[in-house]
Amino acid sequence: MSEGETGQLPLEISPPAAPILETQGLSRYFGGLKAVDGVDFKLSSGDFHSIIGPNGAGKTTFLNLLSGVLKPTQGKVIFKGQDITHLPAHRIAHLGIGRSYQITNVFPNLTVLENVRLAAQALGRDNFKLLTHYQRFDVYIQRAWRVLERVGLAGVGHSLVSSLPHGDKRRLELAMLLAQDNEILLLDEPTAGLATEQVPEFMSLVKEVAASAQNRKTVVLVEHNMSVVMSLSDRISVMHQGRLLAEGTPAEIAANQTVQEAYLGSLYSDLDI
Ligand SMILES: Nc1ncnc2c1ncn2[C@@H]1O[C@H](COP(=O)(O)OP(=O)(O)O)[C@@H](O)[C@H]1O
Ligand SMILES: [Mg+2]
Repeated sequence: MSEGETGQLPLEISPPAAPILETQGLSRYFGGLKAVDGVDFKLSSGDFHSIIGPNGAGKTTFLNLLSGVLKPTQGKVIFKGQDITHLPAHRIAHLGIGRSYQITNVFPNLTVLENVRLAAQALGRDNFKLLTHYQRFDVYIQRAWRVLERVGLAGVGHSLVSSLPHGDKRRLELAMLLAQDNEILLLDEPTAGLATEQVPEFMSLVKEVAASAQNRKTVVLVEHNMSVVMSLSDRISVMHQGRLLAEGTPAEIAANQTVQEAYLGSLYSDLDI
């Protein structure tokens, strides 16, 4: 049927899905330093999206702007079409944008299970009006055990956090984030401090738990281990001096001449391309 006969377009082409999170001209200056400088970023729902770039590129500042921990000098942050730029960090967390815990935010003298339960309870986005206090407590305990199973920590659920080896503490941070059932996980170098040989396994776990859940997560990962980033990401954004230098699939980024010249050749010599 032609357009002339019906007065309509012959094909219905659905527009690309709106991004779950978007920034427009996002900037943050520290005095004269443009730590984040006019970043237009789009995050698709369900994607595992990594941000790479050398030290000082502005990656942590950018994540802080997304989570509301820092406020921009200019520009906007839009979550599901809603301008959240001026919301305080705790309101942004309640919307389902979760930031990884640093181990300093856990209670070392409580058990692994209690820490995860407290993380689940802290956000309290559930509608529990009809449940008694005791029933709610039970729901959180069950959720905590489920999450501990998923990250492989159920066996140490009753151990004190202070007694855990470093690798398990990193798993605990992930568990606490998962317990909050966020839609978006912002992870800033979650493998910091892990031995090189532990990194691929840990990141595979992150990818697996993000993808396997009934309610699949969207992940923004800042990570410097390039082979991990290349193998796990759906999309990669490259930051350089506060700006986005390139964005694309791992193959596109690996083939991008500018990125290669700027980074991959010299700074990321662990990657064979
Ligand atoms: N609170 C701050 N005050 C002043 N300068 C800062 C602050 N936070 C970050 N910077 C500067 O902003 C730039 C970007 O830092 P950062 O976002 O931490 O980069 P990355 O995470 O990519 O290493 C760096 O030059 C850093 O020194
Ligand atoms: Mg950083």
